[in-house]
Amino acid sequence: MTESRKNLKHFNAANAGPSLSQAERQSLKDTLMRMVILRASRSGRRFISTPSLTKMLLRWFLAVLPLFLSSLSTHSFVHNPKVLMKRGMRNLSGDLAAARDSGSTGNEGMLNPLLSTVEVSKTIEIHAMTKSMEARGEAVVSLCVGEPDFPPPAEVVEATVQALREGHTRYTAVTGDAALRQAICKDLEKRKGVRYAAEEIIVGNGAKQEVYQAVLALCRPGDEVIIPAPYWPSYPEIVKLAGATPIILETTASSGFLLDPEALSQAVTPQTRMFIFCNPSNPTGAVHPPELVDALGDVLKRRHAKHVWALSDEIYERIIYDTPHKSLAAVPGLRDRVLLINGFSKAYAMTGYRLGYLAGPSPVIKGCTTLQSQITSCASSIAQKAGIAALQLPATTMAPSVEIMRKKRDRVMSALGQIPRVACSVPQGAFYVLPDVSWYYHKKTPEGQIIRDGHELCMYLLKEYKVALVPGESFGAPTTIRISYATSEADLDIALTRLAECLASLT
Ligand SMILES: Cc1ncc(COP(=O)(O)O)c(C=O)c1O
Repeated sequence: MTESRKNLKHFNAANAGPSLSQAERQSLKDTLMRMVILRASRSGRRFISTPSLTKMLLRWFLAVLPLFLSSLSTHSFVHNPKVLMKRGMRNLSGDLAAARDSGSTGNEGMLNPLLSTVEVSKTIEIHAMTKSMEARGEAVVSLCVGEPDFPPPAEVVEATVQALREGHTRYTAVTGDAALRQAICKDLEKRKGVRYAAEEIIVGNGAKQEVYQAVLALCRPGDEVIIPAPYWPSYPEIVKLAGATPIILETTASSGFLLDPEALSQAVTPQTRMFIFCNPSNPTGAVHPPELVDALGDVLKRRHAKHVWALSDEIYERIIYDTPHKSLAAVPGLRDRVLLINGFSKAYAMTGYRLGYLAGPSPVIKGCTTLQSQITSCASSIAQKAGIAALQLPATTMAPSVEIMRKKRDRVMSALGQIPRVACSVPQGAFYVLPDVSWYYHKKTPEGQIIRDGHELCMYLLKEYKVALVPGESFGAPTTIRISYATSEADLDIALTRLAECLASLT
């Protein structure tokens, strides 16, 4: 670990540009391509380094960097701006994949080299493949997309139509409609026991935008951001786009993918800027019980961790089964260091409305407002009216949908339990299961293909069994595959039967 950290070189912004010496450039390249993984055992921590990008690409990057930096440098939150070059990945889609394979972008000079730092979402990639198979007339059962399969409440739909009829079709304040921000404050106080003023809320185009803005507002090159794995794939990408380094803290299925407070404590260094906490978790469905949330909060209150911000992504907090949810912001004495992320996509099945929010201290909200004012101006005025209607519903409105989800979870767990050598912890929330299927890696298909990893297994399943699942490597959990059970029971049965048949056919 110490060795690994020593290997991380941090550069002064003044040096980061085309005037770097050859040795400095190489060193910068090495740094930019790294991400740190802390093993759950805490015994071995290692870097994963990445396939090299071409020297040419690096040169373009260094050439474009100063322009990029000068465009950012007017914002006070960028003190030492540097951009991470992202590790390459297999199976990028479209032009980017072709570009990397040939060692050339094909669009050199046209696209911002920063694009090559971002991984294409595997979920979206598999979803796109599914759609093109369906367009060719193939019937695919897809369990890969992370959205509820029930419609938004009727009151929400009605409020949407009414908003249009009443002419709520104009820009709102950047931070959002005042009535919606107030409704959010009321909801957070009533259900989570945390008090916010309206100036401490910013509403944006989905929770994802708010995660991005919060990270960009606070994190700089040289900063470390602790991300427990398995993780939502956007976290490390967003951290890298901010120029900071993701520190991956592994959790295990045997501990229900729950975070050990002492492991968190040990991962904190003077460079740690932020800890990202996804509770309930996508992709594991783990829900940290209130006493564990308190214990994690206590770690953040220790002397050596007082400088750390916590980004608490609570977007699945309404889809929970047996374990109650406690907000990290509700831990006494922590609220002013928590950036609470939530939204309407999962709770009210409003994914397409693109509506989410961030609650946090006003200086951070101000930084995020500056960003948002230059990116999207504001969330949709119509969606915001629908959001007010959603928050006016009794908290029990979605209970029947959550009960249906629980039944589906039980159905999936029971089917997975019938498949030999598949291990799985029982999810307590969200609508995902992350079974470990690694026993089947390096086995042979009837056609003679060796399935080397989760990606190849998912591709084989899709091609031969017409079932779409996402490989766990996208979530930092390469021994697993992710199943989203937010679909019909009939489709779940078909998909799990085919998964069992597929695995049984491997020898
Ligand atoms: C953990 C997590 N956070 C945030 C989001 C983004 O949600 P939104 O649709 O509000 O952008 C998602 C969506 O899949 C998610 O899984």
